[in-house]
Amino acid sequence: MDEASQHAVAYDASGQPIGTGRLLPNAYIGRMAVLKSHRQMGAGGAILENLVNTRRTLLQSHNLPTVDTWVRLHAQVHVEGFYRRHGFEASGPIFMEAGIPHVLMGRDLA
Ligand SMILES: CC(C)(COP(=O)(O)OP(=O)(O)OC[C@H]1O[C@@H](n2cnc3c(N)ncnc32)[C@H](O)[C@@H]1OP(=O)(O)O)[C@@H](O)C(=O)NCCC(=O)NCCS
Repeated sequence: MDEASQHAVAYDASGQPIGTGRLLPNAYIGRMAVLKSHRQMGAGGAILENLVNTRRTLLQSHNLPTVDTWVRLHAQVHVEGFYRRHGFEASGPIFMEAGIPHVLMGRDLA
C-alpha cells in the first residue's frame, strides 16, 4: 500500500532519515518506527501528529459530513501508552498480528 499512502519521515540534524510512518487511504496509520538510537526524543510523536494532521487536512479538503472522522491503528500492546498520550483510545480485544500482541486504537478528529 506504500504507493497509495501518505508518508511522514523524520530526519536528524545532518539530514539522515531516522524515523517513518504512513497513513493509508482508509485512515489507518501504520509502519511507525524510529531508529533505536533516536527514540525518546519526540520523533515518533512528531511523525504521529504529522500523519493525524495530514488526515485532518484531507477531511477538511473534502468537506463531506458523512465521512468517518476517525483515525485508527493497530498498536503493539507494549506501546499502547505512547498512542494513548497522543489521544488514541483502545477498543476491542488483544489480537495477534505477525506473532505480536496488538490492540485496535482510534482517535476521532471531529
Ligand atoms: C513507538 C516508537 C515509534 C516511538 O518513537 P519515539 O521517537 O521514541 O517516540 P517519542 O520520543 O515521541 O515518544 C516516546 C516516549 O519518549 C518520551 N519523550 C519524548 N520526548 C522526550 C524528551 N525530549 N526527553 C525525554 N523523553 C521524551 C515521550 O514522553 C514518550 O513517552 P511514552 O512512550 O511513555 O508516551 C518507537 O519506540 C519505535 O520505533 N518502536 C519500535 C517499533 C514499534 O513498536 N512501532 C510501533 C508499532 S505499533
